Amino acid sequence: MTDKYTQFVSRGIGKDVAKKLGLPQPVVLRRYQPGQALVPGPILVQGSSDGADELAAALLAWDLDVRRHAVPREKLGAIVLVLDELDHAEDLERPVLSAAASLRDLAPNARVVTVSRTPASAPGPASAAARQGIDGLLRSLAKELRAGATANGIMLADGVNTTSPSALGALRFFLSGRSAFVDGQFLTVASGEGQLPADPEKPLAGKVAVVTGAARGIGAAIARTLHRDGATVVVVDIPAAGDHLAAVANSVRGTALQLDISREDAGHRIIEHAVGRHGRLDIVIHNAGITRDKLLANMDQGRWNSVLAVNIAAQLRINDALLASRDFRDSPRIVSVASTSGIAGNRGQTNYAASKGGVIGMVRATAPLLAERHGSINAVAPGFIETEMTARIPFATREVARRLNSLQQGGQPGDVAEAIAFLASDAAGGITGEVLRVCGQNLVGA
Ligand code: NAI
Repeated sequence: MTDKYTQFVSRGIGKDVAKKLGLPQPVVLRRYQPGQALVPGPILVQGSSDGADELAAALLAWDLDVRRHAVPREKLGAIVLVLDELDHAEDLERPVLSAAASLRDLAPNARVVTVSRTPASAPGPASAAARQGIDGLLRSLAKELRAGATANGIMLADGVNTTSPSALGALRFFLSGRSAFVDGQFLTVASGEGQLPADPEKPLAGKVAVVTGAARGIGAAIARTLHRDGATVVVVDIPAAGDHLAAVANSVRGTALQLDISREDAGHRIIEHAVGRHGRLDIVIHNAGITRDKLLANMDQGRWNSVLAVNIAAQLRINDALLASRDFRDSPRIVSVASTSGIAGNRGQTNYAASKGGVIGMVRATAPLLAERHGSINAVAPGFIETEMTARIPFATREVARRLNSLQQGGQPGDVAEAIAFLASDAAGGITGEVLRVCGQNLVGA
């Protein structure tokens, strides 16, 4: 559901009034639906490297309408800018300005995706400058695009080519309506691990997934999205949420596990249920989370401890059980829900931000532990998402929080779920230890 203001200014008199008064003009975003075309028009692949040629060939093999040169005034669904062979910041000029000439031809909800190399592995300062320059360029461009168009980037570690499974997986995610509320962000592909699905509409076929905190809100949306993508889903929530949890389990034809994740034996109970009822366990989504907001000056032990216990300590303990289990060894995937509060900070949320910053630290340090079993772990950091939690924020504060991002609207629980479903898929197997923000590119904070 789009908020009422966005509906009002999307057409007719509302559109004219917003334009005259210079008010925000968010558009209804093109979100993924099964069977939908990947992008709303032809894809222009720019760049002269071998990597660009190979990428264009891979997109053609997906039966997409691919251009290697702009056709004047043709509306474009996407521009893919391949910059994988930069030695110097001056090398940016030609490809970037040539892409710039096509920006006015982007269709509503179009995509710009850069494909470049990570600065961390650059052979020297000049190439590191060129590679890091793409970061600033892309984030600025994302703030300039209009009408639901977004700009995101893929950074490849050295030795990973532009058509490796997760480079193509990330490209497909960024091009599609699955990433509608992801803007101004990068994903790093660390290795050639991963595998593209036989059926792009069922990337999780045959997998068994556990989602915590799934009785409502973002967790329920994650369960529905993983089910849509082919997974068998176990939904977990506290016993007090039992009725809602059963309803979600029925709607995804999965099973329910009533469990407080902060219990000592939570990890063991999750493994036992998944393997006992469904024969395996491939994916764990740590979504359950709570807030107990107070300024730090007024913080008490109860508020501090309960937030840290549910939001980070429980995840660490469950992960220990997963890492020790023989039943979580076949390319396992963990995705954890962090928050932009844990990155940029938020007034009144020192406890929550400490726990969500903790999630990010945990994810980065756990990635190497899963590598030997070809597993991955990543975090998704949502910004302002339209849920029961954010509906309780007073009107004026909520309206400001909602508009202060490049897409000028709040995200939907499904937007977070789409990012999680991608990171839980084998197409993202070469992406690990990453934090992907689903925030429409929040304008405030870090
Ligand atoms: P919500 O409050 O609507 O749902 C959270 C669910 O987790 C509830 O069903 C609750 O019963 C369950 N839960 C809480 N403690 C539990 C425990 N000890 N054991 C098992 N289940 C437990 O919250 P929402 O908005 O859906 O958030 C989901 C996640 O997304 C949380 O981690 C939250 O911090 C995060 N998030 C939400 C944002 C938003 O704008 N709504 C923004 C950024 C992050």
